[in-house]
Amino acid sequence: MADYPERIQAIKERMGQRLHILAHHYQSDQVVRHADSVGDSLELARRIPSLEAEHIVMCGVFFMAETASVLARQGQGVYLPAREAGCTLADLAPARIVETTLQELNRDGGRIVPLAYVNTSSAVKAICGRYGGSVCTSANAETMLRWALEQGDGVLFLPDKNLALNIADRIGIPENRRDFLLHPGGEQTGVVYIWPGICDVHTAFRTEAIREIRESDSKARVIVHPECAPEVVRAADASGSTSQIIAYVEASPPGSRIYVGTESNLVQRLKRRFAEEKSVLPLKSCDCPFMAQVTEERLAGLLEAISGGGAPRVEVASREASWAREAVNRMLQVCS
Ligand code: 13P
Ligand code: SF4
Repeated sequence: MADYPERIQAIKERMGQRLHILAHHYQSDQVVRHADSVGDSLELARRIPSLEAEHIVMCGVFFMAETASVLARQGQGVYLPAREAGCTLADLAPARIVETTLQELNRDGGRIVPLAYVNTSSAVKAICGRYGGSVCTSANAETMLRWALEQGDGVLFLPDKNLALNIADRIGIPENRRDFLLHPGGEQTGVVYIWPGICDVHTAFRTEAIREIRESDSKARVIVHPECAPEVVRAADASGSTSQIIAYVEASPPGSRIYVGTESNLVQRLKRRFAEEKSVLPLKSCDCPFMAQVTEERLAGLLEAISGGGAPRVEVASREASWAREAVNRMLQVCS
């Protein structure tokens, strides 16, 4: 039976307020059209504490569902249509290595505070909670890095190297105060210690593409996600989270041509939405293979399993969840 939209709609009608479907901007139109809330990582996390629904479905990747699970109330179930939908960045920061690195950085009694991008496991978020740190998203990384710098002698920023460098550029942290953790046990000179993770979707964007646009189309504007390399962010006119990119396109005057450097589903949706008014073009076509694992078919299957009482929840062990919650709540308070 391939009538997925009808099957999804039937269950949504039957479950009513007991079900809430969230979707990240990188989801396909086929999935987004069923969502009750759509947002960037920060907006999706912010939405959770106010939800009354008994069943919360996260159409996104695993760390988003884990964050939702950590913030959900007792008795609420959180589900992900594709449980294997990971994230390169989250995979590049295993909790055990994060904790050992933090202990090593603090071996002389200093206070280096961990600040994790939300694209991390709940185990890493729990370490941030336990060590007095917090988490951030691409929408609030500048505010959160400033906050973390005030909490101690320095910050371990993980796992996205490019986001760290882009925010350090924005705040004006000099190059000689950025430490790339290359010499374990060596002299500590940093104020920001930068984990070597990258997102391979966003590192595919190159300055050459922006240079070619500038040469052929002097009026075009370019906006990219801050997971792109610093030279790409510097060459662009603006950078921001997925929702900030949407706001930039919305605010651009009619007739504009805007090249967008982020995941294709979002760029193509913006292109269709503004087709009559302005041109939205991909800087390059890049899909996130993890986000793509959530499909309408899998959403329909999950909803049927939820309504039949047999769907597996995304759960985080209670001690880990309580420290991870501490870290996420610090971010929500700082950025309230
Ligand atoms: P946003 O927080 O900007 O939605 O981005 C999440 C993400 O995974 C980007 O690759
Ligand atoms: Fe992770 Fe990159 Fe996909 Fe975002 S685009 S979910 S950072 S792999």
